[in-house]
Amino acid sequence: MRNPLDLSGRRVLVTGASSDSDIGRTLCVTLADLGAALVLTGRRPEPLEETRAALDEPGRHSVAPFDLADLDTLPGWMKGLAADGGPLDGVVHSASVQGYTVLRQMSRAQIDRYLTLNVGAALMLARGFAQKGVHAANGGSLALIGSVAGLKGQKGRSLYAASKAALVAVARSLALELADRRIRVNVVAPAVVMGSKAAEQFAMLPAEQNAALAAAHPLGYGTPQDVADTVAFLLASTGRWITGVTLPVDGGFTAG
Ligand SMILES: NC(=O)c1ccc[n+]([C@@H]2O[C@H](COP(=O)([O-])OP(=O)(O)OC[C@H]3O[C@@H](n4cnc5c(N)ncnc54)[C@H](OP(=O)(O)O)[C@@H]3O)[C@@H](O)[C@H]2O)c1
Repeated sequence: MRNPLDLSGRRVLVTGASSDSDIGRTLCVTLADLGAALVLTGRRPEPLEETRAALDEPGRHSVAPFDLADLDTLPGWMKGLAADGGPLDGVVHSASVQGYTVLRQMSRAQIDRYLTLNVGAALMLARGFAQKGVHAANGGSLALIGSVAGLKGQKGRSLYAASKAALVAVARSLALELADRRIRVNVVAPAVVMGSKAAEQFAMLPAEQNAALAAAHPLGYGTPQDVADTVAFLLASTGRWITGVTLPVDGGFTAG
């Protein structure tokens, strides 16, 4: 039977793949279940190994710890990954700095941290992926995990929002720049996804703001699986003709 989401024989690099990242870990389990061979990255090796051990056929996947803030060496690191294990069919950038940044306490260091990982690494992953021999001969799919914070205002989130809004523009321009190599670039923009990050967020907000947040999700809060399934759709042949878009996965959050 035809399965348009089949990822057998595809090699995919996933950033933010640590076992303690709710979305990153679920992404890995989902892509592996669909047959992909994964390269898992983050800075700490142990949580990456924990994710790898939870995947279908752990031996099919590898762990490659790397600090994505090291933007200048990122493309060369990706060249090495391709030299060692073959070209990549997909890259998923899930690693991020998340949180609230109150304007009166905002600092240069904070701005650098958010923009370097959330935007700079996305750009350099694209640069690395576009290199000859790093992407498969028939092209590839770059999926950037954005956020509805980049599409709709939220108090205390201007810096995170700026970094995620930048991805919308990155996808549009790179979709054009990389189309001749058949590399597609898209953003998946989730609203609140249940898990440890959401729990931290709920704990920080006053009761009225929590109630308003819940009411702003007509279909309720999402799950990591909702995000992972959408990414799989963009990586698989189902996404063959989709590029430059930002797809909200948000239970209706941006509809209102
Ligand atoms: N949870 C939500 O409700 C929600 C909603 C909307 C959008 N999102 C987006 O969904 C994505 C996934 O969220 P998440 O909660 O699973 O993960 P996350 O907490 O945003 O990302 C943490 C992951 O990134 C890695 N990382 C952090 N700094 C790094 C660096 N300098 N170099 C390499 N790796 C680094 C961490 O591993 P190490 O610490 O080992 O490096 C960890 O695996 C994010 O892009 C987030 O913005 C989440």
